[in-house]
Amino acid sequence: MARLALVTGGARGLGAAMSVALKDAGHRVVAIDVNEQTGKEFTEKTGIPVYLVDVSDFAATKEGIAKIVADHGPIEIVVNNAGITRDAPLHKMSAEQWEAVIKVNLNSMFNVTRQVIESMREKGFGRIICISSVNGQVGQFGQANYSAAKAGVLGFIRAVAQEGAAKGITANAICPGYINTEMVAKIAPDILSKIVAKIPTGRLGEPKEIARTVVFLAADEAQFINGATFSVNGGQFTI
Ligand code: CAA
Repeated sequence: MARLALVTGGARGLGAAMSVALKDAGHRVVAIDVNEQTGKEFTEKTGIPVYLVDVSDFAATKEGIAKIVADHGPIEIVVNNAGITRDAPLHKMSAEQWEAVIKVNLNSMFNVTRQVIESMREKGFGRIICISSVNGQVGQFGQANYSAAKAGVLGFIRAVAQEGAAKGITANAICPGYINTEMVAKIAPDILSKIVAKIPTGRLGEPKEIARTVVFLAADEAQFINGATFSVNGGQFTI
């Protein structure tokens, strides 16, 4: 059944692939981004509307999602994808680097999902898909902030899955490995080549390989998949 889907960080990188894949699967899709130019170009290319909302800020998210709902109706599928990196070993990490990553990558899970959970409960249907990371599962040198936030996402979906189950709402996490995006392109080439050498598939993943998992979890038929963590990492981490 065609549903209304919201993808945060949905106009570029992994999120853009998710927005397009959900649209191709027959859903109505709205994206949130923070960059006006990125959003404009994405809408021109795909026809998917983009709203400028800072999901790290509760009040701004409340206002932004209220506008989306007024324009398009209640959100039935939410993909909490927006994320940033501020990599540094802990002994060099500033409070700003810590806070920025926790606010965007973890607080956004609450800020966004809180706005849609009540209408999902009323409707008796909801799909909450949260993007964690292999580095939230195993930790990563230089990412105490990011690994902590992404591990927090796994606790979030496990609690929300239990709360929503009786109301037709599922909450699941996807843990992408290293994917061919601008975020990964920022890693120094010598460090990245060592990381890729540890991926059994022998390459970076492609955004569409994560988007495929999002579409799978968003389906009406995915009702019994709840509180689960999907590793999509080329075999880099297998539990
Ligand atoms: N394990 C152990 N030691 C390591 C290491 C590792 N993985 N990586 C680096 N080191 C060592 C180096 O060999 C070096 O040792 P020496 O000082 O003895 O030469 C030392 O640590 C470097 O430490 P510095 O304090 O000088 O580190 P730096 O400030 O130069 O660089 C960094 C730190 C920028 C975090 C860099 O290590 C880095 O880019 N690491 C990769 C981080 C990463 O994977 N980010 C993922 C981004 S993509 C993403 O997050 C998406 C996703 O979900 C997967």
